[in-house]
Amino acid sequence: MGLIIRQIEPANLESPFDQIDSFVTPTALFYIRSHFPVPKLDVESYQLRIDGAVRNPLSLSYQQLREMAPETRTATLECAGNGRVFLIPQASGAQWELGAVGNAEWTGVPLGSLLERAGLEEDACEIVLEGADQGTPKEEPVPPGPISYARSLPRSKALQREVLIAYHMNGRDLSQDHGHPVRALVPGHYGMESVKWLTHIHAVREPFQGYWQTADYAYWDRVDGKPVRRALGEMHLKSEIARPGIYETVPPNQVYTMTGVAWAGETEVAEVGVSTDGGQTWAEAQFLDPVQRHAWRRWRFEWRTPAKPGRYTLLARAKDANGNVQPDRHDPNNGSYVIDHPLPVEVFVDDPSSRSVAGAANRLARRS
Ligand code: MTE
Repeated sequence: MGLIIRQIEPANLESPFDQIDSFVTPTALFYIRSHFPVPKLDVESYQLRIDGAVRNPLSLSYQQLREMAPETRTATLECAGNGRVFLIPQASGAQWELGAVGNAEWTGVPLGSLLERAGLEEDACEIVLEGADQGTPKEEPVPPGPISYARSLPRSKALQREVLIAYHMNGRDLSQDHGHPVRALVPGHYGMESVKWLTHIHAVREPFQGYWQTADYAYWDRVDGKPVRRALGEMHLKSEIARPGIYETVPPNQVYTMTGVAWAGETEVAEVGVSTDGGQTWAEAQFLDPVQRHAWRRWRFEWRTPAKPGRYTLLARAKDANGNVQPDRHDPNNGSYVIDHPLPVEVFVDDPSSRSVAGAANRLARRS
């Protein structure tokens, strides 16, 4: 059991989602999404620069960061392109199935504490987080030269205690692929906000219009009927089926325990409905985990599999504490991102013996 390759270099690796059953995703099975090669950062010489619209620009060493009061949070991180393989027609980009999502325990210093220390100016509207990785994106519009990976956070979110400048994932130093030595962790927002290999925090007075929130990781909104481009931010409500896996064969007329997880951005998952007949009827799943803001909730559902062999479509659909449910279909305004409609998991119901070598031998014996 290990990660599934979507791209080797830079590393884009997916969790084997049908193997995920723990509340906290083990680091070794946590998806990796990187746009450029991993930059080489050394703990000894590492510096985090905080400047822009602040009264006291400052630079902190790794040691100085570690000396500040830490906080630990469990938070779900989902790549905005998770589930892209389900889009019809096929969309370009990494063909993620269900596993570009994970739930981990993160430790670090609240971004708000750093901004307080730097004396954030009243008129700073956004905080730009920049990583040390660089390269030239392949997607149009292609910038004229190498660029860094940078994203901005609205001031109001940046000052929330849950936004961490993290150095630990699941109790250990961050691995190279997950942003060693320091990354941002923005609970409730799609993964692209959680900038890895973070070296620069820049407070700005004008909304930041960088590549990774205009050309990429953006969606179409409308103002007075006219389309405008906006940065993706908060994660949408979503539920996924972990087991059975896609195209798995399950035995007929037996109780099969379906499992999965559900998460929401800034709200809470209140209910998960499961359909085993392609959405004609729905039944309620049971939660395994209590509500914990920004962390996913695992669920299970005892499915009496049909006696009739065939192909069946399983769906899961979450409802949040405000009564919102996942939409029926993908919104084209989101391009190949925010794949938040119930994703169909096709399975085969069949007698396992009919597919095994022994079953084939039995049938041959019966025929002769
Ligand atoms: N930060 C930097 N510096 N470079 C990147 O390519 N990828 C982003 C984000 N932070 C990225 C980054 C995206 S798109 C996602 S989904 C998350 O990191 C993935 O975090 P992970 O690889 O630790 O799972």
